[in-house]
Amino acid sequence: MLSNLRFTDLPAYEQLRQHADTIKDRHMRDLFADDPERFSRFSIRFNDMLVDFSKNRITAETLSLLCQLAGQAKLPEAIDNMFCGNRINATEDRAVLHIALRNRSNTPIVVDGKDVMPDVNAVLDQMKTFCNRIGSGDWKGYTGKSITDLVNIGIGGSDLGPVMVTEALKPYGKPNLRVHYVSNVDGVHIYETLQRINPETTLFMIASKTFTTQETMANAHTARQWFLDQAGDESAVAKHFVAISTNRAAVETFGIDPANMFGFWDWVGGRYSLWSAIGLSIACYIGFENFEELLAGGHDMDQHFRNTPLEQNLPVILAVLGIWYNNFFGAETQAILPYDQYLHRFAAYFQQGDMESNGKSTDRNGEPVIYQTGPIVWGEPGTNGQHAFYQLIHQGTKLIPCDFIAPANSQRPIGNHHQLLLSNFFAQTEALMNGKTYEEAQAELRKAGKSEEEIRFLTPFKVFSGNRPTNSILVNRITPRTLGSLIALYEHKIFTQGVIWNIFSFDQWGVELGKQLANQILPELQTDEPVTSHDSSTNGLINYYKQMKQH
Ligand code: F6P
Repeated sequence: MLSNLRFTDLPAYEQLRQHADTIKDRHMRDLFADDPERFSRFSIRFNDMLVDFSKNRITAETLSLLCQLAGQAKLPEAIDNMFCGNRINATEDRAVLHIALRNRSNTPIVVDGKDVMPDVNAVLDQMKTFCNRIGSGDWKGYTGKSITDLVNIGIGGSDLGPVMVTEALKPYGKPNLRVHYVSNVDGVHIYETLQRINPETTLFMIASKTFTTQETMANAHTARQWFLDQAGDESAVAKHFVAISTNRAAVETFGIDPANMFGFWDWVGGRYSLWSAIGLSIACYIGFENFEELLAGGHDMDQHFRNTPLEQNLPVILAVLGIWYNNFFGAETQAILPYDQYLHRFAAYFQQGDMESNGKSTDRNGEPVIYQTGPIVWGEPGTNGQHAFYQLIHQGTKLIPCDFIAPANSQRPIGNHHQLLLSNFFAQTEALMNGKTYEEAQAELRKAGKSEEEIRFLTPFKVFSGNRPTNSILVNRITPRTLGSLIALYEHKIFTQGVIWNIFSFDQWGVELGKQLANQILPELQTDEPVTSHDSSTNGLINYYKQMKQH
């Protein structure tokens, strides 16, 4: 089980607090000048990945203290607990075993006295057969045609991972297969998708761990009705609907043949489920061998996380650096900035991954936390972000730690586009670190021929304080294997932070209240009677809606 030591009671916490006071006065520019070995000291190679964390406001002492903090929070024991299948998701009384889904070594992982690997492998075999049948055209629709379009209907973890990965690995996509994702309960989402597909050649994947999620069930029923309106025959459903779920009974009630169900288990968290059958759309799209490569990449990172000392352990380093700024510098957000257009949903994916995991204010003792926990995670691909929000990162009043991610080689090399892109990738972290001094700004203006009066006026606006922290993650190319490692890197970072903050990272009670209230409000919207049962704002909004609504 996980320890329940209070974060601020860990001996290294106070040491770090005092240490932060000395570091706050130091500029990274000086730290680089003082130490010619800084890059090699603070960067790590992992397979084809280089993680450079030298542009952080740290010294060797900082890193040592941060790793002591992790050790005092009993991180190594927590890692063992996760990998051994112990029920570390205590509030849901579940093990946390997404690592088993990508356990390519196939060593037994035992939950309740049973090795889970045979079941994991059986579902992978089922997925492989299915993918091959879709890919070869052998799976036929009700009029005998092969499948050309997959529609994954799911939300949250049953959507974001598959969307992110199929976008990231588009170069590996089967040219004769289109994949669509419908998540939002807003009817616009399914409407627009249904416009683009033909029922004879479309297969719907209803992806829901619980098979009770309102949005997914509403979209699934709409899709089923649309399909029946055109096919006109219930028996055709079996050829066009499959389910991915842990809830067999609900799948049967919906009318999907259990033979067309791909199972997974309660120890797979929704936001960690792309490695399970929830990744079926990914596997069909990029091919099963590439899906296995994705799993292998995740497994590579799992081995690194489990077996590497804390000071060399990439997820741990990213985690403790995040804690350094979050808890000792008052940073509130974390930007993820991929310099790869195919990774355009990466930040959105980890918005759920991180914020649903560590957006908690009750510690593992059931006490309110008295310190900051999970950051606000956000980001957009470079260089679009540069022309949108980087101004604030460079010159604003907020400290925003940023992760820059780029491949050395583009999947689509065209002219010098990739060098243009990477020149920006390298320039941004350098600019954020160095900044521009008053004297440098002044000299630039002078060189540009400005008058002394103009120089005096303009110089303050041209100064960049710098000293703004970044991590750079450079990989060879975004392959399935590299992407698998990258995703697992962030997953384990999130886990590490949760362990240190003494919170439970694998439940998500915070999404329940809104769901409960929506269920109460829905019947109220179905009558014309004005409502009076809520606060005056909610009553006012609902009653205005009722006036506006066209019958
Ligand atoms: O947003 C809450 C949540 O429970 C997520 O954790 C989950 O990924 C999503 O809803 C979808 O749940 P399900 O797969 O059960 O439909």
